[in-house]
Amino acid sequence: MVNLAFSIGDLHFKNPVLTASGTFGNGSEFDDFLDVSRLGGIVLKGTTLEPREGNLYPRMAETPSGMLNAVGLQNKGIDYFEKFIYPRILNYNTNIIVNINGSYIEDYIALAERINRLEKISAIELNISCPNVKMGGMAFGTNLASAREVTREVRSVYSKKLIVKLSPNVTNIVDFARVVEEEGADSISLINTLLGMAVDVVNMKPSLSTVTGGLSGPAIKPVALRMVWQVANAVKIPVIGMGGIMSASDALEFLLAGASAVQIGTASFIDPQASVKILEGIENYLIKKGFSDLKEIVGYINRDN
Ligand SMILES: Cc1cc2nc3c(=O)[nH]c(=O)nc-3n(C[C@H](O)[C@H](O)[C@H](O)COP(=O)(O)O)c2cc1C
Repeated sequence: MVNLAFSIGDLHFKNPVLTASGTFGNGSEFDDFLDVSRLGGIVLKGTTLEPREGNLYPRMAETPSGMLNAVGLQNKGIDYFEKFIYPRILNYNTNIIVNINGSYIEDYIALAERINRLEKISAIELNISCPNVKMGGMAFGTNLASAREVTREVRSVYSKKLIVKLSPNVTNIVDFARVVEEEGADSISLINTLLGMAVDVVNMKPSLSTVTGGLSGPAIKPVALRMVWQVANAVKIPVIGMGGIMSASDALEFLLAGASAVQIGTASFIDPQASVKILEGIENYLIKKGFSDLKEIVGYINRDN
């Protein structure tokens, strides 16, 4: 009835609802709650070349309308991923995207080369925006020259779709979007978490072991929406919006502002079925409003309607 599909170049997505990295495990953790294959895609948790322990506890703290995390890219590394996780996700009938991270450009290149060989993985999400690691991460995404270089190098070794995930912790997000587009990104996703902190007044110490962490959830939605709108109006490649999307109405705000698709993050911690409920809500909205294709509403507020 309603065409919900969108695409990044020749990569087809059956609908615009994806899950955000670090909030949906490797998909299979959610099998008891929903049919993962209903989603447009899933972005797997951040993967690195070598296994990482992540940061010391406490590394999560609840804040007004949101949460802070400083997980620090805990994962078992690419060897483990290839051997044990990859075989488990082969049967999902949806796009599987790996979120890649590194301390050095060479790490990103080596990871991209490895993932290029995995047939089921349709795209990489290049995370140059993690605020919770000592080296790499956000350092790449908050410096224009580094963002340019890492995108260029990964592009040169990765032949499938390259999504670059931007950090909101910059003065002018549009500069970063333009640079990664110039260097061959096929799509841009944003935003990663905003750098924040909280203090435990009872114990008189920082709430997180790392003192600062990444803020996510409804608290960041207006900032995310503003940045998505700015970027969608500045680049030609599809933009994937995220940041505090808890409901179909929130997702629709991003689509109307110019995002071609959305990712659902923190919402999945509160309701593991949030992503499919949001998908159903988007479809119902289109039907109610009399639209037959999602594309009719993408960037609607930016047109002379
Ligand atoms: C616990 C947690 C872990 C995360 N891990 C990653 C990660 O590994 N890689 C990444 O690019 N983003 C990571 N993120 C950021 C989310 O993918 C998303 O960009 C951010 O949370 C904003 O969306 P939200 O407000 O809907 O959660 C993480 C977020 C949370 C809350």
